[in-house]
Amino acid sequence: ALLGIDIGTSGCKALLIAADGAVIAAQTETYPLSQPHPGWSEQDPELWVEGARKAVAGALAKAPEIEISCIGLSGQMHGLTPLDEGHRVLRPAILWNDQRNGAECAAITEAAGGLEGVLAATNNRMLVGYTGGKILWMRNHEPELFARMKVMLNPKDYLRLRLTGEVASEVSDASGTGLFDVRRRQWAKGLIEVAGIDPALLPPVFESQVITGRVSAIGADLFGLPEGIPVAGGGGDAVIQTIGSGVIAPGELQSTIGTAGILAAALDSPQDNPDGRLQVFCNVAPDKWHCMGVSLNAGGAMGWFRETLWAGSDGTLTPFDQIVAEAAQSPAGGRGLLFLPYLNGERCPHPDPGARGAFVGLTARHRRGDLARAVMEGVVHAFADMHALMKPMGIDGQIVKASGGGARSPLWRQIQADMFGCDVVTTDGAAEGAAFGAALVAGLAIGVWPDVASAARSCRDLTRERPDPGTAQVYARAHRAYRNLYPALSETFG
Ligand code: XUL
Repeated sequence: ALLGIDIGTSGCKALLIAADGAVIAAQTETYPLSQPHPGWSEQDPELWVEGARKAVAGALAKAPEIEISCIGLSGQMHGLTPLDEGHRVLRPAILWNDQRNGAECAAITEAAGGLEGVLAATNNRMLVGYTGGKILWMRNHEPELFARMKVMLNPKDYLRLRLTGEVASEVSDASGTGLFDVRRRQWAKGLIEVAGIDPALLPPVFESQVITGRVSAIGADLFGLPEGIPVAGGGGDAVIQTIGSGVIAPGELQSTIGTAGILAAALDSPQDNPDGRLQVFCNVAPDKWHCMGVSLNAGGAMGWFRETLWAGSDGTLTPFDQIVAEAAQSPAGGRGLLFLPYLNGERCPHPDPGARGAFVGLTARHRRGDLARAVMEGVVHAFADMHALMKPMGIDGQIVKASGGGARSPLWRQIQADMFGCDVVTTDGAAEGAAFGAALVAGLAIGVWPDVASAARSCRDLTRERPDPGTAQVYARAHRAYRNLYPALSETFG
C-alpha cells in the first residue's frame, strides 16, 4: 500500500491507498492554530509531528496487515520552520495566512528592481503569504534567533526531516517560497542574493517524485513505521491536490471551496504570469507547471455569514444544509443582489489586503435566503474572475473537478456549472484532499504508475452537475455587474 500524509492547517491526515487508487484506511487528527497578535498565524511544529504520529497509528490500526511500499508527503504551503545547527526548531512556524511581513515583501520587490524584476526571477509576486518575506521578518525583528538559523523548511519538509533525518524540499513547495525560479525549476540565485538571504538557509530541492530518503531508525520509532520505507518528495497541498482530483490535462480545472478558494489547472509550459495576479508554480509532474488563483474568501465567507446572521441568541448555529435550502428558494441571481466576498482582503484577482466585502443591490424585498444565495454566488463570481485571468494562457475549462467542503453542496456545484458553463464533477480522490495526491506521488516514485496522467486516472467520478443554458445567461449578466464592483468601490475601502 501507499501512505500519504498531509500536514494541513487544522489537522494531519494519514491515508492508505492500494495500487489501483482504492482507499484502504484514513485517519485525521486535528490541532490548533495560534494567533498571538492580530494578523499573525503560527503553529508549533511539534503539533504536526504529534498529529502525524497519531494519524499514522490510527490509519494503520484500521489496516494492520498492510505493508507500506512508499510514503508521500504534502502539507500547507509557504510556512517558515526555522531550524538551528542541531535541527532544533527556533520558534513557532509562521504560516501561509500570516500577514506580518508586508514591509519585507516590499523590500525584496524593490531590491529586485520592482514587480517586473521579481516576475522575471520567479514568475510570481512576492506575496505576504510566501516564505521569503518571513525569513527577512525574522532577521529584522528577531535578530538573535535569526543568527542561530541554519536552515529553513516548509511544514511537510519538517515532517520529512523527522521521518528520515534528511533536509530536503521539492519543486512545488519551493515555488511557494517566492525565491524559486519556477521556469528553470531551481532556486532564483540572483533574487536570493539581492534580497540579502544566505542561500545556505534554503534546503536542496528535488523533483516531487524523487525518493529523498528512507524512514530512519529514530523515525521508525517515533511514527511506528518499519525502518527503511522510501519517502518521496511529495508536494504542497494546493498543487498536489490537483492530481489527487484527477486534474492534469488541458481543459480540466479544479475548484476548491475550503476556507480559501482555489481555482487551478496544469500547464504544459511555464507561461508568463501577467502582473503576477495568478500563482504559477512547478507541478509535481516533472514536465508540467501549475497555475492557480487563490481567493482568501470562499467557505470562510459562508462561515462568517452563518455566524453573523444565522446564530441564535444562545450562539447555536443554523445547520449549513438549512441555510443552503433557503438559498435554493431564491432564484439564480438572487433577485439582483450581488455579494463581493473580500472579507479578509484579497489575493486574486486583486492582490489587495485592504479590499473589503459588500452586499450591493439590497431592496426591502430581499430575505435572508437571497443573501445566502448571493454569498454562494459571490464566491463563484470570484472563481470566474480567476478563470478570466487564465484564459489568455490557454486555460479554458471544459470540465471542473470540485473539491473542499463547499463541493458537498449540490447547489454550490450547480452554481459553478452554470457560472463556468461546463460540467462539474466530484471525484473520490478529491474527497480525500491533498493526502490522496501525496499517496499517488508515493506510487509514482516507485513506478506503480508510469506517469502522473495515469495516476490521476485512478480517480473515479462521484457526482456530476450539468450547466443550464438559461441560468448561464443570468450569471453572465450578473458577472458583468460583479466585475464593476471592485473598481467602483475600492476608493470607499477605508
Ligand atoms: C496556496 C495557499 C494555501 C495553503 C494552505 O498558495 O496559500 O492553499 O497551502 O493549505
